[in-house]
Amino acid sequence: MKRKITIIFLLVLLVIQFFHPKKNVSSEIMATDITKVTNVPQDVQQILQVACYDCHSNNTRYPWYSKIQPVSWWLNRHINNGKRHLNFSDFGSYTDKKARHKLEEVVETLEKDEMPLFSYTLVHRDAKLTAAQKSAVINWAKTALP
Ligand code: HEC
Repeated sequence: MKRKITIIFLLVLLVIQFFHPKKNVSSEIMATDITKVTNVPQDVQQILQVACYDCHSNNTRYPWYSKIQPVSWWLNRHINNGKRHLNFSDFGSYTDKKARHKLEEVVETLEKDEMPLFSYTLVHRDAKLTAAQKSAVINWAKTALP
């Protein structure tokens, strides 16, 4: 019985390797990109790219283990969920009110250490922000919109 369950489990694991969600990759910089609608200093842009863009833009840098299922589904859920809340590639399409609110949330999530997601910084050590990096993004987010 135990062996049968193991075999079924392995078969399922094998079969799901053939199913992958559509990748979140776009080479196009949209007209609605945050860098097109507000000034983003180079250092802030760099931090956002390393620590936030994998889940909050139209361009995810996929790690090798994203090729393994069910990891790929799990990552995909974070990406879709993250983009639904905030998409820097699509920031220009937000109403003024929404854009301001999202930037307030950026400040809040950084101050409370809620972002980047803990599970993400476990693997992406470079996304673990220093105090200086955090305040650079916070100061920018507070003044990005006039
Ligand atoms: C691994 C994916 C991931 C990374 C990396 C990430 N986020 Fe998020 N973010 C999410 C998800 C998922 C949500 C949706 C809310 C939740 O599940 O907690 C979210 C929500 C948010 C929200 C909205 C909160 C709300 O209440 O609507 C803000 C603002 C945010 N993230 C900012 C950032 C910033 C700034 C960074 C980089 C410093 C970052 N995130 C990095 C996945 C991520």
